[in-house]
Amino acid sequence: MPAFHDRNDQAYCEDLALSTIAKDVGTPCYVYSKSSILDQCRSILAAFSTYPTLPCYAVKANSNLSILKEIFKTGFGADIVSQGEMERALRAGVDPKKIVYSGVGKRADEIASALRTGILAFNVESSAELETIASLAAERGLVAPVSLRVNPNIDARTNPKITTGLFSTKFGLVETEARALAEKVRQLPSLRLVGVGCHIGSQIVDVAPLTEAAVRMSQFAAGLRELGHQLDFIDLGGGVGIRYQAEVPPTMESYANAILGAVKSTGLKLLIEPGRVVVGNAGVLVCSVVLTKRTPEKNFLIVDGAMNDLVRPTMYDSYHEIKAAKTTHGPLQTYDVVGPICETGDYFGKDRELPACAPGDLIYLQSSGAYGSAMASNYNSRPRAPEVLVDGSNYRVIRRRETLQDLWELEL
Ligand SMILES: Cc1ncc(COP(=O)(O)O)c(C=O)c1O
Repeated sequence: MPAFHDRNDQAYCEDLALSTIAKDVGTPCYVYSKSSILDQCRSILAAFSTYPTLPCYAVKANSNLSILKEIFKTGFGADIVSQGEMERALRAGVDPKKIVYSGVGKRADEIASALRTGILAFNVESSAELETIASLAAERGLVAPVSLRVNPNIDARTNPKITTGLFSTKFGLVETEARALAEKVRQLPSLRLVGVGCHIGSQIVDVAPLTEAAVRMSQFAAGLRELGHQLDFIDLGGGVGIRYQAEVPPTMESYANAILGAVKSTGLKLLIEPGRVVVGNAGVLVCSVVLTKRTPEKNFLIVDGAMNDLVRPTMYDSYHEIKAAKTTHGPLQTYDVVGPICETGDYFGKDRELPACAPGDLIYLQSSGAYGSAMASNYNSRPRAPEVLVDGSNYRVIRRRETLQDLWELEL
């Protein structure tokens, strides 16, 4: 049975009714299924079991400590983009030797702290960054492991805001520059070249660009080796999409088949950085209806969750299935489902068919486990929603609801 399903006229997460959780912790709240997260981790590990592969979970997708702990227990490493993410990952028990550090703007203090930690690799995205890493490592008498992130100029055929492998974006190095940097690494005793990689985007449902990237990176690695460079791994980033609406994302087996063919020819270890696919479908955002409101053009369902809780619809115009938590109902109504924030862009879904709702009714947004709570803010001075992890018929609050006091706690 899927983790989120209907039972006894109610929406359930595993063996708990969403209404039970909402009654206990209030709304809005994020609810995650532990079994769903673990199933995804296991299916990734199984799909790549025929080849030496290290999946490094992209912490940015959902960085709650309890969720990280579950993921790292399965053997995953971490893909991080800030010192904060590194500290979270370490607290959650990740092996430092399984951390890769991505990002175009790593600060010197962040690099220094990752050097102290002794991570697997810095994914280097510019010549300036390489120089900073080299001098910080030299000052400390260390040798920094670096992997060159290439921008292969491949269109991932996804939302432009999450496309990262085109020359029009800020990410990665063009191949000629990456080759020159490999040469530089050879000359600098405080650096060691350990890998090459790329990350071409997110929510990719067509495997063709992923295959193209795998082929390009494998060729690029082979070219570097011909020049006498030694490498340990190829890192193909994350990006595998999930089903939000009608997408047909690849299975983990077809994803593995799509990239392993090329990588196998190199014999190099493979790193992948899955984020969304691990947690995206494992979480929902539960909200209560505040009121309904008609205008000459629209019928609004105003709920207590808002763009500060889940910004994806506002930011990417993304689609989340919206459902009523009570599954028996009368006639359907068409609503724009919106939050209370003072922005016209504060909406969760437009022209959605839902049962006629009354104040206090519960609705939930599916597929909210990735880039949901992680992107939440306090806009409009709204305390952030709690997060709950369901395990069978039990649940645990894994982040408490913020209080009003929390909002001004840091202000002087
Ligand atoms: C470098 C890098 N790796 C991995 C990911 C994770 O991507 P996804 O959540 O689509 O798997 C991202 C997300 O943007 C990223 O920037």
